[in-house]
Amino acid sequence: MTTGRFITLEGGEGAGKSTQARLLAESLAAAGLPVLRTREPGGSPGAEAIRGLLLGNAMAKWDGVAECMLHFAARREHVVAAIRPALEAGMWVVCDRFADSTLAYQCFGQGVPRAVWDKLAEVALDGLRPDLTLVLDIAPEAGLRRVLQRAGQPAGAGPDRYETMGLAFHQRIHAGFRAIAAAEPERCLLLDASGSTASVTAAISQAVRARFALGAAG
Ligand SMILES: Nc1ncnc2c1ncn2[C@@H]1O[C@H](COP(=O)(O)OP(=O)(O)O)[C@@H](O)[C@H]1O
Ligand SMILES: [Mg+2]
Repeated sequence: MTTGRFITLEGGEGAGKSTQARLLAESLAAAGLPVLRTREPGGSPGAEAIRGLLLGNAMAKWDGVAECMLHFAARREHVVAAIRPALEAGMWVVCDRFADSTLAYQCFGQGVPRAVWDKLAEVALDGLRPDLTLVLDIAPEAGLRRVLQRAGQPAGAGPDRYETMGLAFHQRIHAGFRAIAAAEPERCLLLDASGSTASVTAAISQAVRARFALGAAG
């Protein structure tokens, strides 16, 4: 049984997931709630090791099903080692990407059959499902522009393997996230992420307060 709350942020490159995950976690913590902020692929030692394989540029192309399996192997580690224990301890888990990213990137983006995702999700997740998924929606051109600016910053790392895949790939992902949000409206909220950071933060804060019946501080 889990008693915490599981919130995921999804969307394409440069949508603002990492920025907003940090701000949401800070605001929940400021409201006195116990928070775990984490990310995928990764979030636990075993999963971070797999992240290096998936996002590094050493391997240009994986078989799509194998790539899907690697994402779910990392996710399984992350769920078992970090997410479930935190939820069982009553924490609010804020996760930067989760299973929807694999559906969008590997199935919509790379053409892996949906049935593969369904099977792997069943095995890896044991029924775990986010309580709320915030799908940050931005035109791929605009998101990639933000990412390139980020990569150009002196302290920033260069673009990862997915960021360098072409625009058509990112357009399929964008359509995929919209389809996911439309298919599960009770779990997912599609938010316009093209505005300022503050405007997106305000929309997220309002959505979280409404979904979990929190006071204004949350
Ligand atoms: N609403 C926004 N408007 C302008 N720039 C943004 C906004 N949100 C994030 N950024 C910037 O865009 C870049 C990508 O944001 P990030 O949060 O890393 O996106 P993601 O994790 O979705 O790829 C970062 O440099 C970030 O500071
Ligand atoms: Mg990010």
